[in-house]
This record gives sequence, structure tokens and C-alpha cells, in this order.
Amino acid sequence: MAEPKIVTVLSTKGGTGKTTQTYNFGLWLGTQGYKVLLIDHDHQCNLTQTFGIFDASNTVAGIYDNEFKEPKPIHDVAENVDLIAGSMHLGTIGETLINKTMKEFILFNWLDENYDRYNISSYDYIILDSHPDLSIIQKNAVMISNHIMSFIEPSQYGGFDAMDSLGTRLEEFKNEARDPRTKDSYVTADIFFVANKIAYNTSTSHEFRETVAQMKDVVAEIPLREVFNRSTIEHKMIFEYEKAPLTDGAKIFFAGVHTAYADMKAAIDKEEK
Ligand SMILES: Nc1ncnc2c1ncn2[C@@H]1O[C@H](COP(=O)(O)OP(=O)(O)O)[C@@H](O)[C@H]1O
Ligand SMILES: [Mg+2]
Repeated sequence: MAEPKIVTVLSTKGGTGKTTQTYNFGLWLGTQGYKVLLIDHDHQCNLTQTFGIFDASNTVAGIYDNEFKEPKPIHDVAENVDLIAGSMHLGTIGETLINKTMKEFILFNWLDENYDRYNISSYDYIILDSHPDLSIIQKNAVMISNHIMSFIEPSQYGGFDAMDSLGTRLEEFKNEARDPRTKDSYVTADIFFVANKIAYNTSTSHEFRETVAQMKDVVAEIPLREVFNRSTIEHKMIFEYEKAPLTDGAKIFFAGVHTAYADMKAAIDKEEK
């Protein structure tokens, strides 16, 4: 059986739609028949709460700190979709790791040691939602990833917010994490971008889309629509709102999201560059 494709959803800025899109994209992959493991790697735990889990036990914290270790870290949250729940302690745990050697390999080692126990090879995709930083915790996620998927949104100047430094920071981390003998980096993930919150009727978004169209690292465009907000509040995947009678605008919107998610999947399915 093939190994799962591993993706970290990362950006240097909050509010770009990481959690909302991870939730919906993960569930969408499940409806397409793929087995998905989501990992809430953000101590704000928004992804976990969106699945209606508010329990502080059996979380991702157990991977990083034995004190939090629990017997059942993997929750079954939807058909084909499992979740390792987030922990509000993850940020502070990260700070205690600073002086440990191999501190960026904790998640890597956990996955390796638990591969059979949790039947990791049965997953088609592992997707990690993250906190907007490149702390040790997020570096652990990058270390196991094939791809970094970063959401960007149009700024008021028609360009990009937060496309900024992430590529450079990742490149630095790649260089730091080289095998001393072979000089190969342990970090093999490439980065691609998804343009989120695209409106189709403003001049700003028009400029933004023109810019996006010229950038090969931007693999998909997700339209702006209020129903995304409802989706996370009401704990429902957006396609549950795709019910007749639909306005023409709504039809175009849902078709646009289907296309975007298919494009994101295609980018994830590709080999690392
Ligand atoms: N395509 C979209 N259209 C409209 N609102 C969106 C869209 N994507 C995300 N949002 C909204 O943007 C806000 C921030 O999203 P969130 O997923 O919490 O971002 P992050 O996890 O990156 O901090 C939320 O209110 C969410 O509902
Ligand atoms: Mg979030």
C-alpha cells in the first residue's frame, strides 16, 4: 500500500482560512472515498472545536510530552476522516523543547514508531492545521511533510498578504536541517499557495486574480462566501448547503469550490519538486 501524502497547512499570518479550509477540504476528501487523518497542530484548537470536540484529553500533546500521553489519540470524526485533536498546551510544550537535541524530529519519530499500531499506511492523506509561526512545533510538521500548503488572501492593494517570508523561512530551515555527512536536507517539502476569499466583483479582486493567474505556485482559487463561516459555526461541511433550489450565484460558487479542492488534491498528489 502507498504511503500517505502529508501536507502542512502553514502561513505566517492568522485569519487566511487555514482552519476553515482544512476542515472543509479534509471532509471533502472523505466524501470522495479517501481516508484522511487530520492533525490539529495549533494550540488554539479551532479545528478540533469545529468537530465539536472540547475534551482536553487524548490530544496531540501526548506526542510531544509523556505527561500528556493517553491511550486513544486518534478520534473518528466523520466517514473516512480521523482527527488527532489539538491541545492548548502545545505552545508551552514547544517552548520546553528548545534545548533538546533532535527537537524537530519528535513527530517524525512518533509516526515511525506508531505506524503499524495506528495503521498509518491506511490513510491516503495526512493534513496538519497549524499555528501561524515557524516554531519548533511547526518545524516538526514540516519535517514529515511532502508539501506545505499556504493560504493567501487579496490585500487591499490587489496583491498578496503573507506570501512574503514563508518561502524564505522554509529555505533557511531546509539549509539548517542538512545531514552533516551527505549534506542532503531532511526537509523535502515544497510549498504551494492557494488564493482564498476571492470575490468576483470588485476591482481589487480583479487585479488580484490577474496577478494570481501569472504565478505558477498558486494552484487554486477559493471564492469568498459567507457560508464558509456558517460551515465552521454549525459544524457542517459546506457541500451540505449545496441543496436545491440554488441561485445561479450559489451554483457557480459550489462549482468553484469543487474545482479548487480538486486542484489542491492534484497539487498534493504530485511528487515533491
Ligand atoms: N473562502 C472564504 N469565504 C469567506 N470567509 C472565509 C473563507 N475562508 C475563511 N473564511 C473566514 O475567515 C475567517 C478566518 O478563517 P480561519 O480558518 O479561522 O483562518 P486561520 O485558521 O488561517 O486563522 C473565518 O471567519 C472564516 O469563516
Ligand atoms: Mg486556524
